[in-house]
Amino acid sequence: MSIPHVDVKAQYAPLIPKLQDAFARTLETGRFIFGPEVEAFEREAASLLGVQETVSCANGTDAIVLVLDAMEIGPGDEVICPSFTFYATAEAIARRGATPVFADIDPVSLNLDQAEVERKLTKQTKAIMPVHLFGRPAPDLSGFGLPVIEDAAQAFGAGGIATSVVSTFSFFPTKNLFALGDGGLIAVNDAELARRIRMLRFHGSESKKEFVYVGYNSRLDALQASFLRIFLEHIADWNRQRRDAAARYGELLDGLVETPADDPGHVYHMYCVRSPERDRLAAALQDADIGFAVYYQPPLHLQPALRFLGHAEGDFPETEKASRENLCLPLWAGITEEQQAEVVSVLKRASELVRS
Ligand SMILES: Cc1ncc(COP(=O)(O)O)c(C=O)c1O
Repeated sequence: MSIPHVDVKAQYAPLIPKLQDAFARTLETGRFIFGPEVEAFEREAASLLGVQETVSCANGTDAIVLVLDAMEIGPGDEVICPSFTFYATAEAIARRGATPVFADIDPVSLNLDQAEVERKLTKQTKAIMPVHLFGRPAPDLSGFGLPVIEDAAQAFGAGGIATSVVSTFSFFPTKNLFALGDGGLIAVNDAELARRIRMLRFHGSESKKEFVYVGYNSRLDALQASFLRIFLEHIADWNRQRRDAAARYGELLDGLVETPADDPGHVYHMYCVRSPERDRLAAALQDADIGFAVYYQPPLHLQPALRFLGHAEGDFPETEKASRENLCLPLWAGITEEQQAEVVSVLKRASELVRS
């Protein structure tokens, strides 16, 4: 049985008639940039996330850049973030001319380790950027008295998100809340910061006549907003389905590999197991035509673009171990019990071969 790593189409297929209606509605209005669909999506997303307001933008990377810019974080400033995350987290910091300062992760949560963050604080630290990796809420890092910018690209609707000042989201099509293309969002609990972000995403202007900041052109299309409004109605159910599927994997795997530590707020954007035998297990999945992913190998501190930070192998032991051991199994809202049982039986056979 061929099983993909993520089946995006299975999630939106039942909604195609509604998506077509939304497309027709937008064609009728003739408004493709900003306008009522974008405004409604921002309001509905804010209400669902329980934040004062949200500002949409072109993608999750821009969302981080816009926040850093609005906070006037730039050259000479340091932002603490993990190295075990997608490149965009650190890239956005570097894009602003600021310095990404990596802190090692906790091996169980795979999120920033609080003690490691504390070790990396300097007078230049302007913000801390935890990542809600694979949909698991990062620990609360607001105790250091610094702004916390949550990179929640993988965790729309996860518990504990958006309790801080600002969180950023990505709607890349494999994310737990996705667009049919690119999209991003910033959730803000600070009206002045929101105003600046809103201006920055449109060339630093509120009026379209007066340009106050050197900004960006980073907008969510009206069409994508209209699709996202439909998906928003399903996100709570989809997140529940992901949690149910994760619980099922936990039972089926029964100690075969290290399964992810649960958290009530975890929305399982990915179901990420760990094993020292990862490469052999991955090869068995590949032979059986089962999709999987291994993430952040090499991790960010060893990426060519960030060589200027001067890191070497061994600098972040837990990050490097997680990078060698992680294996993300097929998961989406709607994966069947039969598909999950097949994944686990391939892994079982492979690990018996490893042991014999
Ligand atoms: C943790 C993390 N941060 C940032 C991003 C960037 O989002 P986008 O691809 O929408 O720019 C992603 C996803 O791609 C991500 O997984």
